[in-house]
Amino acid sequence: MTADNARKLKVALFGVGRLGSIRARILLASPRIDLVAVCDPKPGADAWVAGNMPARIRFFADPEDCLLHSGAEAVLISTATATHAPLVLRALDLDLHVMVEKPIAVDIETTRTVVEAARKKPHLKLLVPFCRRFDESYRHVKRMVDAGELGEVHAVETSCLDQQDPSGFFVAFSAQSGGIFVDMGIHDIDIARFYLQPTIGCPNPRKQVNRVFAVGQTAVYGALNEFQDADNGFAIVEFANGKILTFHIGRTLTNGFESATRVFGTKGSAIVNGNSTIDRVEVRDVHGVRTATTPDAFVLYDKSFLNDVAEFAECVLDDKALSLDADDAYEAAKIAAALQYSFRKRVPVLFNEEGLPVME
Ligand SMILES: NC(=O)c1ccc[n+]([C@@H]2O[C@H](COP(=O)([O-])OP(=O)(O)OC[C@H]3O[C@@H](n4cnc5c(N)ncnc54)[C@H](O)[C@@H]3O)[C@@H](O)[C@H]2O)c1
Repeated sequence: MTADNARKLKVALFGVGRLGSIRARILLASPRIDLVAVCDPKPGADAWVAGNMPARIRFFADPEDCLLHSGAEAVLISTATATHAPLVLRALDLDLHVMVEKPIAVDIETTRTVVEAARKKPHLKLLVPFCRRFDESYRHVKRMVDAGELGEVHAVETSCLDQQDPSGFFVAFSAQSGGIFVDMGIHDIDIARFYLQPTIGCPNPRKQVNRVFAVGQTAVYGALNEFQDADNGFAIVEFANGKILTFHIGRTLTNGFESATRVFGTKGSAIVNGNSTIDRVEVRDVHGVRTATTPDAFVLYDKSFLNDVAEFAECVLDDKALSLDADDAYEAAKIAAALQYSFRKRVPVLFNEEGLPVME
């Protein structure tokens, strides 16, 4: 190891909730990262840090205090979505590199403000780590697509289906998540953009989408109607280059978490996670053939949450380009917001020549 790549990136983690607590352990184990601080204002977060992290890691209850005094040169923001934008803007202001969980914000305008702020600081990295892009199987299919092995790729069909949660979590979560298309569908949109390359063969690069349409249901959680949200959503996105994404997202499976992607080309198609199993074991007994499904995205995409952190550290420390930029997150956010609107208003949404969805 050279002296240079022995250097570690000093990172402060914001948020130790469902994902942040996993991130904390990943950051601790990352060879090129020095986790220096953890910040979360919720009661009990200090005790969680004291009980789960080495004593050298500083705890902050106040985000501004942490941003100013942790000594970090980069932040990983794993907080509730509504808090992302102010934290990212302040971190950029203080010249800190930023990795922030998806989505940047629940609306297009705030997302644009953040992406433009990052553009004004080209010496800083801003990574929004859509987890499927960091999964080895998805990367394998990407290499096949790029090598032309599937022929002309023309459509992507995906699903992302959470396990039912009787605790009421999804209803409480809906109040601040922006709705199922914004919170969950953004993954399906991003992975479709990864394969369908909407800027290629597109007459006006600003306008990457022609139109979108979405419908939804509340099959299990009727209380979601109060937030104009759905527990199952179905969407069609027609890109300006003629390529098409269809997807089904939901929060009502009983067997576990499933997340499948099929990429259709003129010579063949490829499926990732056709059966989102926890391992390769099949039980064959009086009930037939059974496999165990992954319980959640954190298990199915466990390696992604290591790979994205590793890429972030490498790109900051070695000043390399990230594999996706903030504009990818902005383009996906526009489509997600348009789908949420389409579902709520029961209308198709067209995109204008500026590349913005036309929403009254
Ligand atoms: N596959 C994925 O990419 C994936 C999966 C799950 C969650 N996420 C995203 O990760 C984010 C966190 O999700 P979660 O399920 O862990 O949420 P969560 O509600 O379980 O945890 C959020 C934590 O952030 C803390 N927090 C809130 N404001 C803060 C602030 N200003 N500074 C520091 N901490 C603050 C809260 O106290 C809480 O502990 C969300 O934006 C979500 O969309 C992404």
